[in-house]
Amino acid sequence: MQDNIKAALEKFEKLLVSQLERAERIKADKDFVDYSKLDTIIIGVCGGDGIGPTITNEAARVLKFLLKDEVSAGKVEFRNIEGLTIENRAAVGKAIPDDVLAELKKCHVILKGPTTTPQAGDKWPNIESANVAMRKELDLFANVRPVKVPALGIDWTFFRENTEGAYALGSSGIHVSDDLAIDFTVTTAEGSRRIARLAFEYARKNKKDRVSIVTKANVIKTTDGKFLNICKEISKDYPEITTDEWYIDIMTAKLIDDKRRRDFKVFILPNLYGDIITDEAAEFQGGVGTAGSGNIGKRYAMFEAIHGSAPRMVSEGREIYADPSSMLRAAVMLLSHIGHQDKADLLSRALDICMFEERSLVITGRNTGATCREYGDYVMSTVENLAKGLA
Ligand code: IPM
Ligand code: MG
Repeated sequence: MQDNIKAALEKFEKLLVSQLERAERIKADKDFVDYSKLDTIIIGVCGGDGIGPTITNEAARVLKFLLKDEVSAGKVEFRNIEGLTIENRAAVGKAIPDDVLAELKKCHVILKGPTTTPQAGDKWPNIESANVAMRKELDLFANVRPVKVPALGIDWTFFRENTEGAYALGSSGIHVSDDLAIDFTVTTAEGSRRIARLAFEYARKNKKDRVSIVTKANVIKTTDGKFLNICKEISKDYPEITTDEWYIDIMTAKLIDDKRRRDFKVFILPNLYGDIITDEAAEFQGGVGTAGSGNIGKRYAMFEAIHGSAPRMVSEGREIYADPSSMLRAAVMLLSHIGHQDKADLLSRALDICMFEERSLVITGRNTGATCREYGDYVMSTVENLAKGLA
């Protein structure tokens, strides 16, 4: 017993040191990259597992179509990054193989397909999720997830803290003894400040007059309490914006209250609550398959779907029918992030037409609907019609 406690304390001490070092690195971090000052913006394309390569390559094809002039002029370069597969990760026992990480770090922004996340008891070694590892390695601290359902008056943007909370040490919990296992939740002051700042700045720029801070600070008093207090502190710099506080349980309920939910605009949440509630939110829009997300850091940014790799579709030979909508929505966010707002708006409008209005092609995930490639062609022809003023 004493030995177990001693071993746990030693491990805990190491965790504290590593988290304090991380907090220092966050403080030392300078400004965001200014893409307009780069000679060439390098976009890494990383397919992932399952349906990942199919939907990611399709979104990359659409992006290349939209950016063809920039590519010819050498202002944008696409780079395929191979090797972020569960087989490779399992073989080297790492969430991201070293050579893949080195290639990722040579890019400015990354379009990434879903990756398989091992869990205890499945056929893979229980290594850390590649998503979570990439968010940490590239310090992608803000997970920005928009959800829009115009017909229901829903226009939400979630700012999910992406490197701390329950995820920071999610693969470093302590198995003290057969009777006791402990995980940790982490909040740093600067980590909370930077996500709050980004969310309020976004609200101000986009004329959103409400920001809702969502925690469980009544129970998780120390870490959620700190997160909440810091968000409230930052809110004082934005007097034109109404800031309110919610607990995650009642917010989860309020998202299905059609009288209240249209009041919400921008949300700030710790990592785990943000993970859970954005799946719920995406469901109103047509499911997680329709939602893209931006993982934003000061130096790098990565854009992905919010769903998993759908291995069943692949084992049933249906991956050609996979829906690329989530990755195309992620592509919209990528275009906006690197300063091509006009092209982002064009693609976003084309997706609204294809997904909600015209619906000349529909994806069903099976041979009863369009293939991923056909859908990509449909989106590109819609973009062309819009550009010609025909749609
Ligand atoms: C997400 C996913 C990931 C997460 C998984 C795959 C690790 O659910 O991006 O929301 O929990 O963050
Ligand atoms: Mg999730």
